[in-house]
Formats: sequence, structure tokens, C-alpha cells
Amino acid sequence: MRSLDEFAAAKLRDLDSRNRRRSLSDSAREDGIWIQRGGRRLLSFSCNDYLNLSQHPAVREAAIAAIRDYGAGAGASRLVTGNHPLYRALEERLAQIKGSEAACVFGSGYLANIGIIPALVGSGDLIVLDELCHACINAGAKLSGATVLRYRHCDVGHAEALLAEQRGAHDRALIATDGVFSMDGDMAPLKALSALGDHHDAWLLADDAHGLGVVGGGRGSAFADAANVPLQMGTLSKAVGAYGGYLAASRAVIDLMRTRARSFIYSTGLPPPVVAAAIAALDLIERDTALTAAPLRKARLFTRALNLPEAQSAVVPVIVGEADVALAASAMLEDEGFLVVPIRPPTVPAGTARLRFALTAAHPEAEIERLAGIVRSRVMELAA
Ligand SMILES: Cc1ncc(COP(=O)(O)O)c(C=O)c1O
Repeated sequence: MRSLDEFAAAKLRDLDSRNRRRSLSDSAREDGIWIQRGGRRLLSFSCNDYLNLSQHPAVREAAIAAIRDYGAGAGASRLVTGNHPLYRALEERLAQIKGSEAACVFGSGYLANIGIIPALVGSGDLIVLDELCHACINAGAKLSGATVLRYRHCDVGHAEALLAEQRGAHDRALIATDGVFSMDGDMAPLKALSALGDHHDAWLLADDAHGLGVVGGGRGSAFADAANVPLQMGTLSKAVGAYGGYLAASRAVIDLMRTRARSFIYSTGLPPPVVAAAIAALDLIERDTALTAAPLRKARLFTRALNLPEAQSAVVPVIVGEADVALAASAMLEDEGFLVVPIRPPTVPAGTARLRFALTAAHPEAEIERLAGIVRSRVMELAA
């Protein structure tokens, strides 16, 4: 239809003019860190596979065996016939790692948050969330119909003030935050937020997408801060190297999700090989403490070399300001053989476009140092 295509073309022109158009590049991962892209072999600092488990022989073999045993797809929603036997093993493993009574797996981390939040709060309720929360927390909050208030990034005092003012006028309340912030790499003050939640009867949800396998001895952000987080949500697509989302919580909450979370009910179960891969990867995360310590150690090597504040996770941002500077810096690094995808608004706030470096267990230290040298001399110069 003409009006439809005209609308799309005008929208794209506008995004182009503001350096905000996104595009896809074919990227073939060879072994986790090396990527074939645009005819070149690049060392990637833009994969969230922090432990490189997507490529681990035991993980690959588990996925292949599951295809042989159960086929390539689940065939239906879990509540119909898609609940293949591997799910139980995965959910038990997650609950064990997270120290919760039970766990529930969703189709992805995004699907988890847009299912969990509206199943817990709705019209007449309150959500207080960190202004830098991931997009899927914002989406879940919006879908819920609850009143949404944002507190300044990691500012517990501001969250406290919002709750003190607004909690009484609402029935139920939720505090939501990333455990490790996806674009900044810093950690939420979970212990303080948990105490705040207790004080105001507000349930704390922490999204541990970038924490599991990397911080807290591999168990995630709640364990790094010894915090009591009743709703530990996360994804299996980053350090676990597979795919899917999860919630670890009390038995009652998990049972509620299975019967009320719409993204759980009305979406097909994860394919058996993906679930088997996640189980095998979690086995390695539980057993191999040297492996789970590696990404943070390497991120700290990088921040030390750059004179940046010490890394708190595997994610290190170098903020350059405007989108065109981030694009130029990324292109310059690509010429040097590194893939570091630029992150621009609206993914991050205006004026904070950045290079986001994701350090993994497999990155050679010499390459981290070479990269840091180039960033120090040429990216920081571009940003100045
Ligand atoms: C903090 C955070 N939460 C949730 C997600 C979504 O997880 P998934 O990729 O499994 O949908 C991501 C990543 O994309 C994330 O960074």
C-alpha cells in the first residue's frame, strides 16, 4: 500500500538524518570471540556470551543429543504439549543456583519481563524503577497498566522518596532494576533496594541478564551483594550461551506465573536443544569457578589499562557523547581488527552514545592490552 510504504520511507529518512537507523550485518561466529563479518575476521568485544559456553563441546553435544531424543522444536505451548522433560531439569537447576524454591523458564528474557510484571501488578498498583532499566522492564511495566515512576540511576534515596510519597495511594508495589546494567556494566544496590522493599512492602525484581555466570561466584548479582531478592529474573542467552528467560522465586509465585503470565501461556515452549544446552552450561557454571571469575578479571585488566573506574561486571562502557563519534570510533577499531558495535540513543540517553565492550573468558590478555592502547590513544581523543 502506498501510504504504508511512504510512512516507512519517511520514518527511515528521519532516522538516517539523526544517525539512528539500525541495520543488520551478517556475522558468523567462529569460536565465540572471532567473527567473520564483511569479508573480514574480527576479534569481537560485542558478544554477551561471557563464558563462551555457546561454543563449548559439552554444550554443543547436549544440544545435539536433545535433537536426537526429542526433535528440533517443542511443538506447542508448555501448557499444551510443549513441556518436554528437559524443562523440569532446567528449572530445578536454576532454582538451585538462585537459592529459590522454584523457577520458571520463558521463551526469552524479554518475554519473561513482559509476562512477569503484568502478572504481579496492574491498574491501581505502583512500579518504581531505575531510569536505566532494560527496555523489557519498561515494556512489562507499561503493559501492566500500573503507575510507573522512575528513580535516578542507582539512587536509593530517590526511590525511597518516591515510595514514601506514593506507596500509600497504591495497592501493590514493585521495585524493578537491572542487577547488572546492560549498557553501563555497573551493579544495582540490591541490598539497599531489598531493605527499601521490605520497609514499604514493595516486591523487588532484579533482572540478572548480565550477572548470572559472571558475578557473585557465577550465581548472579543478588549473591554479589548478599541481597534478598524475591524476584530473580534473567536470561539464558548471555553467559549461559543458549536462549530463554527465567524467573526464580517462591513456589507460589512460580505457580502463579505458569497460570497467569501471558507470554508463558500463549507462546510455544523453547526447543529441546536450547533447553539441553542451557542445562549443560549451568552445570559448567556451577562447577568451574575459575571460568566464571575470568570475565570480571579481564574487564578489570581493561579498565586498569584505561584508567577507568574498576569494572563491576564484564561490561565496560566508554562514553563518547554523540552518535556520529561512536560510529567513527567503531569504524576505526574495525580497521584495527576489533568488532565493537556502537551503542546510540534511544538505547542509551541522548548525549551518551558509547562503545560498549563485553569482555569474555576467552579474550587473550595481549589483545585486551592492544585494544586498550588504541582506545586510550584514539577513541578518547575522538571523544574529547
Ligand atoms: C538487562 C537485560 N534484560 C533482558 C534482556 C533480554 O533478554 P533476551 O535476550 O533473552 O530476550 C537483555 C538483553 O537483551 C538485557 O540486557
